[in-house]
Amino acid sequence: MDDFYKMVFSRRSCRSFNESPVPEEKLFRILEAANAAPSAHNAQPWHFYVIIGEKSKRTLFEGAGKAYVSDLMDSGMPEDEAQKRADESKRFFLAAPVLIIVFVEHIYGARDKRGTIERALREESAAAAIAQLLLAAEYEELGACWYCMPRYCPNVFRDFTGLGEAYEPMALITLGYSAGEPKRREKSPLSEKMSVI
Ligand SMILES: Cc1cc2nc3c(=O)[nH]c(=O)nc-3n(C[C@H](O)[C@H](O)[C@H](O)COP(=O)(O)O)c2cc1C
Repeated sequence: MDDFYKMVFSRRSCRSFNESPVPEEKLFRILEAANAAPSAHNAQPWHFYVIIGEKSKRTLFEGAGKAYVSDLMDSGMPEDEAQKRADESKRFFLAAPVLIIVFVEHIYGARDKRGTIERALREESAAAAIAQLLLAAEYEELGACWYCMPRYCPNVFRDFTGLGEAYEPMALITLGYSAGEPKRREKSPLSEKMSVI
């Protein structure tokens, strides 16, 4: 158990990678770990779309970059700042040896209370899978980071993958060998985050 806790506490979001490829067996073990996550009704409402090829990554980010800029501008950011943010993201993503787009498959509409709850449960389930994916990456001595960018331009990711309307991109995960020690962000102490009676 000691090793497990060591792994949990050493995990940090990794945003820069060296060029070493991710061994296929590690990648599949990580995805198996994610696929073993708990899910509401055991529905496993996720889909992992893995991109390794350079050309595919570039094609994706041509479209995603434009959509991201226009979304940032819609929320009030000046164009040059939005473009700078998008270019920076693109650089991060292209430099990662593996990208994993995590989709949640929705089978309920949000028109009534039941649908709204079921949709949330499916997203929570996908988030549980992502958390297991990140821990498995740490176990495999790989770096990874969860990016929420696809939330802002879901159609770009949907169109790129050819997955249908029912699939909502939840996250973009970068994966590879870390180029250095990731920054250790401070965590609030547990005592501030719990109550016990
Ligand atoms: C839902 C979610 C969305 C995130 N989106 C981003 C993102 O878009 N860009 C980024 O650099 N990090 C993103 N992160 C990573 C967080 O910034 C990171 O987990 C947090 O700062 C704590 O650092 P740690 O992971 O090293 O413990 C995201 C994390 C989560 C859970």
